[in-house]
Amino acid sequence: MQGSIGIFDSGYGGLTVLKEITALLPQYNYLYLGDNARAPYGNRSFETVYHYTLQCVEWFFAQGCPLVILACNTASAKALRTIQQNDLQRLNPHNRVLGVIRPTTEVVGRYTKTNKVGVLATNGTVQSQSYIIEIEKFFPEVKVYQQACPMWVPLIENNEHNTPGADYFVKEYTNALLQQSADIDVVLLGCTHYPLLQEKIKQALPPQVQVLSQGAIVAAGLKDYLHRHPQMEQRLSRGGERLFYTTDSTEDFNTHARLFYGADVQSAHVELKS
Ligand code: DGL
Repeated sequence: MQGSIGIFDSGYGGLTVLKEITALLPQYNYLYLGDNARAPYGNRSFETVYHYTLQCVEWFFAQGCPLVILACNTASAKALRTIQQNDLQRLNPHNRVLGVIRPTTEVVGRYTKTNKVGVLATNGTVQSQSYIIEIEKFFPEVKVYQQACPMWVPLIENNEHNTPGADYFVKEYTNALLQQSADIDVVLLGCTHYPLLQEKIKQALPPQVQVLSQGAIVAAGLKDYLHRHPQMEQRLSRGGERLFYTTDSTEDFNTHARLFYGADVQSAHVELKS
């Protein structure tokens, strides 16, 4: 039986990834779930992020999705490995759950000339050290500097990212990153919400610094994955359908989603008990 590709985020951020994936791979069906009722995940404990993410993965599998992408760095950093190692066998050994950190770290070293890369991310992603550990595997010569930006997701989720308050917090965190090293020439947006602040972040950084967001990188990584895994590719349904679900208000989701996805969205509600 064939099924849609599941795309998951704590809230709206994964829509920036879905946008790029559907642009590159429009032929498949997609099912998006935003756990908006419990977002943000960024400051939550390992156990909580794991519990919530697992519940959402189970929901995708129940909808018949053979492949789920955690389009959320926090969930990728804190829950992915445990789900892959402990839960997948029990839930459905033929299904796959992938994250956004691995495809990003596989390529990020190609962009730097100084071998100094900055990563802006949530508290959870920074504390997990996932970017440091994964980049070291592919580009041992690259030094990674991390800065947690705990105010950014709440600002973006509340549609406050075009305000002077957002300017203040963009300066605060980008300055803190640059204080760690003035030679950083690539800054990776290690949270799928942050593309909404991309212009402000660019303005706050010196002009020679390249700002990378993940959407296009993850989309290219998925294309490559499906090429290398034809058995999974054959299990994906086609037709270009996109369905959107949220654990919170569908009205709010429909209003905000456009900012992230770039097109109108009609969502349905899903109830997940904590
Ligand atoms: N978009 C998520 C990420 O990439 C959101 C984080 C959050 O919910 O705090 O990390």
